[in-house]
Amino acid sequence: MGKGFYISKPLGVVAIILCAGALATIIALSVVYSQEKAKNKNEISPTDGGATSKPTVTTAAPSNEPWDKYRLPKSLTPEYYNVILWPRLTLNMTTGLYIFTGESTVDFVVIEETDLILIHSNKLNYTQLDNGHLAKLTTVNSRAEAPTIKKSWLQTTTQYLVLELNGKLKKDQKYQLYTSFTGELADDLGGFYRSEYMEDGEKKIVATTQMQPTDARKSFPCFDEPAMKAVFDITLLHDHGTIALSNGKQKETSNITMNGHSVQKTVFEQTPKMSTYLLAFIVSDFGYINNTIGDVMIRIFARKPAIDAGQGQYALNKTGPILKFFESYYNSTYPLPKSDQIALPDFNAGAMENWGLITYRETALLYDEEFSSNANKERIATIIAHELAHMWFGNLVTLRWWNDLWLNEGFASYVEYLGAHEAEPDWNVKDLIVLNDVHRVFAVDALASSHPLSSKEEDIQRPEQISELFDAISYSKGASVLRMLSDFLTEDVFTMGLRTYLKAFSFGNTVYTDLWEHLQTAVNTNGTELPDSVKNIMNTWVLQMGFPVVTIDTTTGAVSQKHFLLDPESEVTAPSPYNYEWIVPIKWMKTGQKETPIWLTKKSDTISAMNTSGLDWVLANLDVVGYYRVNYDEGNWERLLQTLSNNHTLIPVINRAQLVDDAFNLARAKIIPTVLALSTTKYLINDRDYMPWKSALNNLDFFYLMFDRTEVYGPMQDYLKKQVTPLFKYYKELTHNWTKVPNGHMDQYNQVNAISLACRTGLEECQTLAQTWFKEWMDTGKNQIPSNLRSTVYCNAIAAGGAKEWEFALSAFQNATIAIEADKLRAALACSKQPWLLNRYLEYTLNPDIIRKQDATSTIVYIAGNVIGQSLAWDFVRAQWSYIFSQYGGGSFSFSNLINGVTERFSTEFELQQLKQFKADNSEVGFGSGTLAVDQSIERTIANIKWIEENKNNVLAWFDKEAK
Ligand SMILES: *[C@@H]1O[C@H](CO)[C@@H](O)[C@H](O)[C@H]1NC(C)=O
Ligand SMILES: *[C@@H]1O[C@H](CO)[C@@H](O)[C@H](O)[C@H]1NC(C)=O
Ligand SMILES: *[C@@H]1O[C@H](CO)[C@@H](O)[C@H](O)[C@H]1NC(C)=O
Ligand SMILES: *[C@@H]1O[C@H](CO)[C@@H](O)[C@H](O)[C@H]1NC(C)=O
Ligand SMILES: [Zn+2]
Repeated sequence: MGKGFYISKPLGVVAIILCAGALATIIALSVVYSQEKAKNKNEISPTDGGATSKPTVTTAAPSNEPWDKYRLPKSLTPEYYNVILWPRLTLNMTTGLYIFTGESTVDFVVIEETDLILIHSNKLNYTQLDNGHLAKLTTVNSRAEAPTIKKSWLQTTTQYLVLELNGKLKKDQKYQLYTSFTGELADDLGGFYRSEYMEDGEKKIVATTQMQPTDARKSFPCFDEPAMKAVFDITLLHDHGTIALSNGKQKETSNITMNGHSVQKTVFEQTPKMSTYLLAFIVSDFGYINNTIGDVMIRIFARKPAIDAGQGQYALNKTGPILKFFESYYNSTYPLPKSDQIALPDFNAGAMENWGLITYRETALLYDEEFSSNANKERIATIIAHELAHMWFGNLVTLRWWNDLWLNEGFASYVEYLGAHEAEPDWNVKDLIVLNDVHRVFAVDALASSHPLSSKEEDIQRPEQISELFDAISYSKGASVLRMLSDFLTEDVFTMGLRTYLKAFSFGNTVYTDLWEHLQTAVNTNGTELPDSVKNIMNTWVLQMGFPVVTIDTTTGAVSQKHFLLDPESEVTAPSPYNYEWIVPIKWMKTGQKETPIWLTKKSDTISAMNTSGLDWVLANLDVVGYYRVNYDEGNWERLLQTLSNNHTLIPVINRAQLVDDAFNLARAKIIPTVLALSTTKYLINDRDYMPWKSALNNLDFFYLMFDRTEVYGPMQDYLKKQVTPLFKYYKELTHNWTKVPNGHMDQYNQVNAISLACRTGLEECQTLAQTWFKEWMDTGKNQIPSNLRSTVYCNAIAAGGAKEWEFALSAFQNATIAIEADKLRAALACSKQPWLLNRYLEYTLNPDIIRKQDATSTIVYIAGNVIGQSLAWDFVRAQWSYIFSQYGGGSFSFSNLINGVTERFSTEFELQQLKQFKADNSEVGFGSGTLAVDQSIERTIANIKWIEENKNNVLAWFDKEAK
């Protein structure tokens, strides 16, 4: 899946989800344990009867029957499915639901004799067949009779259709199982589901799918594990005027009559051998655009008005080059005859790599010259690259089980930058992995509650456990360590191993060590020198959580490593097979000259070349290809700061971003003084590059949160205004008084930084600019604000304005025809400084006609992010607690996101007391999926109080001095 799955959540939330994962594992283990204990007691017979069964009985019964296990037995292997599905896009009057019906057969081979068939099935109702059972069994290619069915039922907890037979299935014999079933086409974003949208005042319905990880079984009965690959014949029935899509090309379309309805029948070409989680079925009345690359048909589908407005064109233009790039990168032709990509109005993840039919959120595929920013554009190019990368890595060759998900997602998250670079070679987009993935995941992986990349197969069983693996560690840490690997092997050796791996396992399954073996062969062939085997080096990064801080003492040449923890007092209870030591590749330079890379293979070592005469400076982890932070002796830090201030271009741009981010985080961990970290921002007055600025702003966000209600705020604003003013002037000139768009992609990004910080720190010229632009829009009805700058201009104009501006933005939000624009306005409405407007906006979050339900909690969090809105949002959440809890408390991530969001700024004793009181007042009802978030908010508030106590005076004095 594309990483939109988690990308919009603040990192703190990700950390909390990680904790929940650990807890779930513990619970799962104790369940397994109690099942083991019950093993020798009386066997408890399973409850009968599918839809009418009481799930509680099966859940409560401790038993060790095969159908109580979440993994399929190894006795049967599917080879071929024939599936016919008929989704209804109009309400079924009998049930009051949207439904689909289906029929399927599956041919499977018997590996071990058995009298039991388990096949995944979830939320499907089966037709009782003429044999009195939920399925019918026959033999294939044999005159022999299949055993008759003794008993058939649905096991809801473990999501099986279970068939007990009166005789044994014979080893090596093929059988066919037939079923006929009905399911709900719910708006739940999983399995076969429906998405709704308005077009010309008319409600329209799309039937679509999201199978990964375990919802194919919600569409038809199947052996729903990634290693159970098979070929599929798919047929969809659908209304005239609609178009049906699936993994294969449309083979034939005909008119048929079913139950008195005349419908269209679309038959698709048979798929190659593939996993169930990569299937897709879609019925819509979308439009499309197409072209042909080599023999591959490429199509982009979306709502007709979006296609007519040309919003699919950018994706269509870029897909060809990216596909070509991956063909040569993998040295393997695209495995399918077509590549469809479709933008859906309701979609949970960012995108999903269904083989040959990739699904996207609208914001991840549709580009509009007028409305989309360069960031929106970059997201489209990288997500397309990510999903296309999966067509080989993940789809052609698939990891055997979900515990290795990190390799699948980490790999795609790394090469998405290579693919996007191919599509947009002028962007330098490859550098951005450092900000977007490395720095981002450092924040999570520096907590004692983090977890290793790799999980044990037996620890990942239940669907919730599988879902929890889709986190920042799998995506961003996975990408970071693979980038490091590719760098120290060299790109040539890395791709050599990758190519033989893909060739060897095409249409098959692997474990992560299979890739290491192929890379090792490439290393041996090439004669690359490494301190240890690929497997041993990588295991130190894959099998233990966290990462090291490497400390270099240039007065002695001593180099050492230590597990980096953001809170040095936190206790690491998870044992590590390597005692939290890593095999660390170190690329470095001395006084601007690149030196021979070294390896740190033990806790500490002496590198005489790093013992400088005291004039030379050492800079390690060049371009941040290594997954670690770096600290130095005081003298070297001073020389680095001096170099930044004398001539910062001597230090590569990525490393300037690194020095800032490392320093701020080393300070948080009390390894260096906070004022040293602040000193890394002084030279920015001369820097025009995006990455160091962005790195500084990311870190200063915490200072804003802690100090924007204290006397530090004034001097801090003065200092930052002084720093950003030259940058603002620079862009004013570069853009001819804001009339041109800067050429460079990074320059466009840094222009946004310049304007948002200049306006934030009260630079008058900036505020006037934002207000003038906005007023022009209000007066003329024509929006001339450059698309890159809209988010920040809207926010600043609304902050400076009153009811008139706010009302105008609200109506623009309600009338927006493109999701990208509506999202920008919804965020900006929270920027008002008028408490009464913010309170009104808070009330709107209770009204789904104004704020869609899926956006309610994030809107409250936006309001809490505003220093004026913070306490209003907190009061609102407490006052509306019972409603909010009943709506969002059940399951979604957004609930813990809400609790973290409204308490993020908490840093006083009074707020801590309020928070504790809130917990006590609601202890009876509890906090549902936000339970952990409440405790972590208390913990974070205590830490913030402590941090302010320790840092406020120094920081105030420093800003005071430097603001002058
Ligand atoms: C199928 O039915 C539709 C609508 O009744 C009609 O327009 C179309 O021509 C028919 N197609 C064929 C191949 O009969
Ligand atoms: C687009 O699809 C149409 C209809 O299948 C086909 O006739 C046309 O040649 C395609 N265009 C390109 C550029 O492939
Ligand atoms: C700064 O360093 C760069 C790169 O070595 C060099 O080209 C440039 O002349 C230096 N500028 C100054 C002002 O010393
Ligand atoms: C920008 O505007 C200022 C003042 O209006 C003017 O002096 C200057 O020449 C303009 N710059 C450009 C590049 O148009
Ligand atoms: Zn992915």
